[in-house]
Amino acid sequence: MAVLSILKYPDPRLHRVAEPVREVDEEVRTLVRDMAETMYAAPGVGLAATQVDVHRRVVVIDVSETKDDLKVFINPEIVASSEDYKSYEEGCLSVPGVYDEVERPDRVTVRALGLDGQPFTIEASGLLAVCIQHEIDHLNGRVFVQYLSRLKQNRIRTRMLKAERQVA
Ligand code: NI
Repeated sequence: MAVLSILKYPDPRLHRVAEPVREVDEEVRTLVRDMAETMYAAPGVGLAATQVDVHRRVVVIDVSETKDDLKVFINPEIVASSEDYKSYEEGCLSVPGVYDEVERPDRVTVRALGLDGQPFTIEASGLLAVCIQHEIDHLNGRVFVQYLSRLKQNRIRTRMLKAERQVA
């Protein structure tokens, strides 16, 4: 197992669209283990493969308090969304220190493959629904700050680039 490094906004690689996984093989299972370790180490509640510069449709999520409820979504697809929207203060491991309100459908139905390669469907609400939508956005090359105003996006970009220079 390995803790992978996480791409930071505004890295252009965060905007690549991930490819579907053809087969849930040992390579994919290793990726999932490394992604889970990276997410728990951060710590975070979700991670998309895009964030570790692997452009395949794989997401790990654990929204439990006790951090013992790992959920794996391979090739996840939202098949239904509620008409009512809810606003939630989101953050992202690729945009450390930035939190802002994003409105999304309150409930979603998601179809995906599990680690065993078998399809499953879940209905999610609350934090899990927010998280799944946020992570699927990553697979589509979208970072949550893109929901914010231009002005805020520019400010975040400047702040992140400045932080990057200080580390380098
Ligand atoms: Ni994120």
